[in-house]
Amino acid sequence: MSRKPRIAVVGSANVDLTTFSDTFPRPGETLFGKSFHLGFGGKGANQAVAARLCGADVVMVANVGNDLFGQATVDNFTNIGIDASRVRIVDGVSSGVAPIFVEPNGQNRIIVVKGANDTLQPADVDAAAAALRGVDTIVLQFEIPLDTVAYTVQFARKHGIRCIVNPAPAQPIRADSLCGADYFVPNESEAELITGLPVHCTDDARKCATALLQLGFRRVILTLGARGSLLATAEASELLPPFPVTPTDTTGAGDAFIGSFAVFLAEGLPEKDALTRASLYAALSTMRVGTQTSFHTRVEFEAEWTRRNGRP
Ligand code: RIB
Repeated sequence: MSRKPRIAVVGSANVDLTTFSDTFPRPGETLFGKSFHLGFGGKGANQAVAARLCGADVVMVANVGNDLFGQATVDNFTNIGIDASRVRIVDGVSSGVAPIFVEPNGQNRIIVVKGANDTLQPADVDAAAAALRGVDTIVLQFEIPLDTVAYTVQFARKHGIRCIVNPAPAQPIRADSLCGADYFVPNESEAELITGLPVHCTDDARKCATALLQLGFRRVILTLGARGSLLATAEASELLPPFPVTPTDTTGAGDAFIGSFAVFLAEGLPEKDALTRASLYAALSTMRVGTQTSFHTRVEFEAEWTRRNGRP
């Protein structure tokens, strides 16, 4: 593709308050943590930043609070080169925040307080319609009202825009309201909650992906962390291997995967190639601390891709 991909994210923006600790307190206990990191996050914002760093023109549709974090979030988008003209500062509600706890092996636990993210309505999508109609791909997650997600899926379908839905964090869904999406991309726990099926091994993953296809989704990508990812369609399913890394902080790796996948696909790469590259982009993010601060630039990514594959 000769021009830059154009990606829109309709989704959340949070501020992440990340604590690194060897152990975590029991009820009533106070412990000393090892270190702390304050950064911009939110699954939607993270996916937008990953897409931007991978080289896309990105427009963000989001709501933030009229507080310390709200304007800072807008400024962060602008500084990275993301079109934040559809990010609304809403009175009377806090910005989204996420206290995050990271163990020594990089594993994280996250509590999201949605705040202003919960005020993003279909009317906000309508207000951004002119910008949305001009993009290649719309990316959605579940930190905004699910009615808004469903409305945006319909908008994308109506206008022939590729649509990727990342059902994170896990919530029960009405599948018929979302199956107009081109790609449905859950991780194990999200897929388990939606289908009621456990995902302990790759056989389980195949069964779970089949159940999602039976719910009406057309293309399912089940991300399996250190086990790679599973691409499933009505015709076939294929397990794509992971890239080995030693993680420091896995927070935001799923978002790195989605944002970069949207770009690689919009650049015209075959689906499996786009997936393989997104897997490496996500894996690399786990080697750095934070969410958006852990994402690589396109130049850094291409250097690492070439180093690992022996060719560009
Ligand atoms: O996926 C990681 C993200 O989840 C964090 O940035 C946090 O804000 C929550 O949305």
